[in-house]
Amino acid sequence: MIKLFITGCNGQLGREINKKYAGRDDIELINTDVAELDITNVDAVVKMIEEVKPYAIINCAAHTAVDKCEDDVDNAYKINAIGPRNLSIAANKVGAKMVHISTDYVFEGNGTKPYTEFDETNPQGMYGRTKLEGEKFVEKFADKYFIIRTAWLYGDGKNFVKTMLRLSETNDEVRVVGDQIGSPTSTAVLADIIDNLIWTDNYGLFHGTCEGVCSWADFTEEIFRLAGKTTKVNHITTAEYPTPAKRPAYSVLDNYMLKITTGYVAADWKDAIAVYMKELLENN
Ligand SMILES: NC(=O)c1ccc[n+]([C@@H]2O[C@H](COP(=O)([O-])OP(=O)(O)OC[C@H]3O[C@@H](n4cnc5c(N)ncnc54)[C@H](OP(=O)(O)O)[C@@H]3O)[C@@H](O)[C@H]2O)c1
Repeated sequence: MIKLFITGCNGQLGREINKKYAGRDDIELINTDVAELDITNVDAVVKMIEEVKPYAIINCAAHTAVDKCEDDVDNAYKINAIGPRNLSIAANKVGAKMVHISTDYVFEGNGTKPYTEFDETNPQGMYGRTKLEGEKFVEKFADKYFIIRTAWLYGDGKNFVKTMLRLSETNDEVRVVGDQIGSPTSTAVLADIIDNLIWTDNYGLFHGTCEGVCSWADFTEEIFRLAGKTTKVNHITTAEYPTPAKRPAYSVLDNYMLKITTGYVAADWKDAIAVYMKELLENN
């Protein structure tokens, strides 16, 4: 039996990993969220990992509230940096592989072409800074690691898609930022990327997003089109929608390492959102 140890199992990605491996009788998932294992507690992490001795740890836990991280700095460092450090230390004790998820927010976000894994990082807010320190800890403490930077993630949980659909219930028009460009990525595509790496020795830092680019406003239009909504999307500027934490204007990631080491090409964002919406509408 192959044991996969999941942290943050109640989050969007944690649930997707469960869905992906459901029904596989060769895989045992050990699911934990903060109630079962607080990843910031090194002793508890090492104890549990030494007991379970997993094949791999998939760290789906994070402090993902980007704006809140600006004020909740200690917790952001604890969850986004110390947590992955603790898991990496534990992974090495039992020879497990370590899968860690990072973010496009590690970049400055004012580029003009997709960022590769070889481009300079320069995070602009606490979320990105703490996630970057998490990457460094994983690189330092885990021998067999996959760090996968993703972006604009949506799946089973609270996310942008559901917020827009909710707003469309009570509004004829919505105002959405049209000058931030990125690649919406479903947890299903990210889980597929993880699955493509986890059974290999192809270790290192990877970008893992859907192909293609759009703005948040374009993304919203596609969501409404797929849902058959007539709600109008007004494209506004970032300046018209101020947030406590600065958002990257251009945070497109090139899955360069995946492409050159495995030839893997991720689904286009439009195909991924179509798959997601179909399932969402069928289940409602
Ligand atoms: N969402 C995005 O748009 C996005 C974009 C780029 C990268 N990412 C990265 O992708 C990964 C998965 O994101 P996601 O959207 O699936 O996150 P999510 O839905 O916010 O799930 C994170 C989970 O981690 C749990 N958690 C928080 N602190 C913990 C602790 N100390 N110990 C154990 N578990 C803890 C959370 O519990 P509580 O809810 O109780 O806090 C939650 O269940 C993260 O690494 C994130 O940084 C996400």
